[in-house]
Amino acid sequence: MLIRDLVPEDTDLLFALIGPDDLNMVSPPTRETMARFMEFFLRSTSLTSVAEVDGALVGQAQVRFNANGATAELSYATSKRHRERGVATRLAQDAIRRARLRTPAVEIWAKVAERNPASIRVLEKLGFEPAATTDPAFFSGKLKDEDRFYRLPARPRPTYL
Ligand SMILES: CC(C)(COP(=O)(O)OP(=O)(O)OC[C@H]1O[C@@H](n2cnc3c(N)ncnc32)[C@H](O)[C@@H]1OP(=O)(O)O)[C@@H](O)C(=O)NCCC(=O)NCCS
Repeated sequence: MLIRDLVPEDTDLLFALIGPDDLNMVSPPTRETMARFMEFFLRSTSLTSVAEVDGALVGQAQVRFNANGATAELSYATSKRHRERGVATRLAQDAIRRARLRTPAVEIWAKVAERNPASIRVLEKLGFEPAATTDPAFFSGKLKDEDRFYRLPARPRPTYL
């Protein structure tokens, strides 16, 4: 598996990952909306890492800096066939490493649904801790009642990875 940065030429590969009903998305994007996704993913405020296997993308993780430049949001997804092999964790580690190269003191947050134990486990493995936030501006999309918030301490606990 190759972990690398997302590049503009990845549009079709990313569509193949996100477009089909593979990531439990409520409504997978069309090709038109995919172009907007790519624009969002490739913005200078976003650092997106992808995992490639046999020429296909099997996962992506992204750290998106907020307008204040001091906080950022982590998100990730792995194709169903490649889950539970550490893909999301490795991708997130890569995106976090890149974010800290850019802004060493960046405070990284993640939002996760209470009923998503796999995602909560990924955050735990990365050293995130549950935290309360009152600032919805930290997070993309609409916040839901089931959302829980996690924050990565400046010096995360060592993990077994
Ligand atoms: C959440 C998601 C990204 C995890 O991807 P992944 O590549 O399988 O993640 P990893 O393999 O790095 O880690 C998954 C961990 O969750 C654990 N896990 C999986 N299902 C679980 C469950 N039902 N209960 C508890 N733990 C679970 C795995 O055992 C593994 O932990 P381990 O390494 O200690 O054994 C993937 O399921 C996904 O894409 N889901 C849909 C999109 C999504 O929910 N994104 C996150 C939005 S917050």
